[in-house]
Amino acid sequence: MAIPRETVEQILQAAHIEEVVGEFVTLKKRGSNLWGNCPFHNEKTPSFSVNPARNIFKCFGCGKAGDSAKFLMEHEHYTYPEALRYLAKKYNIKIEEKQQTAEEIMQQSIREKMFNINEFADKYFVDTLWNTEEGKTIGLEYFRERGYFDPIIQKFHLGYNPAKWDAFTEHAKKNGYSEELLEQIGLSIKGNNGLYDRYHGRVMFPIHSLTGRVIGFGGRILTNDKKSPKYQNSPESEIYDKKQTLYGIYFAKNAIAKQDECILVEGYFDVLRMHQIGIENVVASSGTSLTMEQIRLVKRYTKNITMLYDGDAAGIHAALRGTDMILSEGMNVRVVVLPPEHDPDTFGKEFSTEYVSNYLKENAKDFIRFKTELLLKDAENDPIKRGQVIRDIVETISVIPDSIFRITYVKECSRLLDMPEQTLTNELNKILRSKLKKTLGIEDNVVPETDTTTVTPKQEETVEDQLPTGYYQERELVKLLLMYGKNTIIDEREDENGEKVYEQVSVAQLIVDDLKMDGFVFTNVVNKKVFDIFDQAIDAGYIPDDQVFVSHEDETIAQLAADLLSTPYKLDQWEKYGIFVKREEDMLKATVLSSIYRYKDLIIEERRKAVEEELKTATDPADQLILLKQKKDLDDIRRQINKELGIVIAK
Ligand code: GTP
Ligand code: MN
Repeated sequence: MAIPRETVEQILQAAHIEEVVGEFVTLKKRGSNLWGNCPFHNEKTPSFSVNPARNIFKCFGCGKAGDSAKFLMEHEHYTYPEALRYLAKKYNIKIEEKQQTAEEIMQQSIREKMFNINEFADKYFVDTLWNTEEGKTIGLEYFRERGYFDPIIQKFHLGYNPAKWDAFTEHAKKNGYSEELLEQIGLSIKGNNGLYDRYHGRVMFPIHSLTGRVIGFGGRILTNDKKSPKYQNSPESEIYDKKQTLYGIYFAKNAIAKQDECILVEGYFDVLRMHQIGIENVVASSGTSLTMEQIRLVKRYTKNITMLYDGDAAGIHAALRGTDMILSEGMNVRVVVLPPEHDPDTFGKEFSTEYVSNYLKENAKDFIRFKTELLLKDAENDPIKRGQVIRDIVETISVIPDSIFRITYVKECSRLLDMPEQTLTNELNKILRSKLKKTLGIEDNVVPETDTTTVTPKQEETVEDQLPTGYYQERELVKLLLMYGKNTIIDEREDENGEKVYEQVSVAQLIVDDLKMDGFVFTNVVNKKVFDIFDQAIDAGYIPDDQVFVSHEDETIAQLAADLLSTPYKLDQWEKYGIFVKREEDMLKATVLSSIYRYKDLIIEERRKAVEEELKTATDPADQLILLKQKKDLDDIRRQINKELGIVIAK
């Protein structure tokens, strides 16, 4: 149920970051901030800071930053609403649930009905398995024969649906469940002779949500009937979204968090077997390739995924699928390949727990290494294939967000592929550069002359050096907006009569108006988002509080705000240059103005360079003339900017 927006704001304001964090981390005061050992990465000296004034935390070691809700989401793996509810409870704020619309109430009750019928079905299947003749001799016997013991059968609520074609459907109807609902949730199917059981004659696996409610079922056939599929699964419904679901997550989540590792297998039985031999941090993708949603689900508990797949070709192929997605989430992936004749189920049945855990430890191979070796084997002595392998591997490395890991992998692959590191680095940078441009959202209509494509990067240059012109200056202005947006300074202008007028304006207004008037638009998407929020707010007559950004629902904005607000602004840098400014307000004004001018200067300079380049190749005299005129205009603007910059600095 949705929490009203005003209540969200009330909760976030009431929450004191030092109190929220303080429950989990020991903090010591140093200066205006509090410091402690970061709970998100291993460290011996504290680099985790809490800023009570800004109500945010930031770790200078691992970069995690945000408000109280973000902290709880990271630390306790709460969802956003869960974090808010936690805070509301802590600070005694009553959450008035939003009035739901008729449609929402309908939806809600459909979901409730679906959960109810699934629970009813779950009980029926379990009861049938343990307490009926057919269930015991066929269903229970099947599990036992495959080597499963009663505790595991009970723990996972395994069940049995009788062979009689409508046994369950009849039972459900007698208990008041409608045919419509039975069909909707997929427990029954409508045939020519009426409604019949989807899973008749199958052993049943209930599929649990993260919180342990039954959202769907899988049923395995017990005969060798080649005409029906081995597994029947629930269709998707209001409560069952396949791409968000991992089989076993409810039973595995604590073990995953505790061991900081998630083992990924393919089948229901693989999960059962691992649990039976005491390895509980295991979930199954249920035969389909992984989705981004499933990966994020795992990421709530750990960053380490080990894929445990069958030793046959299909298993290895499955391991290659979906892995770039895991890497791109900044997670670590390792692969364990079983002996060819095994899947995790049979492997766990044949060998002892100790043997299996040792096998996992000794055979877990870093994914990139695994992929490189595998592909190389295919491409032996085939130079064309080799070239493809290299591109393929570098493409995979390029999805890893952390540059240090990327470098490590380049080194490793250079050794494995017997290729110079520089060749791989160049290939990698090429891919990264084109990706960077896409993600930074460099739009063509915005100061097109500064497009970085025109700048040929030098060798050895890192991607970070290839950020678009003015990137840092943009950040600087955004930082000033966030930190000092509400502060006022005295702006002096000349009115139409040439008389000096003094006007009190906010820093936000000054920056926004000045840039807008001259048609400057930030190229970085997130910077631009922040700018636009200020712009719209000023239009509406107010200046947004920094908390608006720190607690923004757009995570990129929240992260940027937390980052920028966490590092103090050195207004006193001016004194280094021997410029003595008496009042803080003057200092602020000088800082703001010079930041604006420096930013503009850079952009204009870049534009001028581009025009000059064009001039070199322009042959048409008319073109040349236009370009020369453009160049002169730009020179004039620069001169003007520098004059004003000079005034600011000299003041
Ligand atoms: P066993 O043969 O009983 O050991 O099953 P398994 O768990 O080893 O399954 P297998 O390796 O054949 O397939 C892995 C997973 O893919 C299963 O757990 C199912 O989730 C899914 N799957 C397999 N066969 C089918 C099928 O015929 N239909 C559907 N929908 N899913 C299937
Ligand atoms: Mn199997």
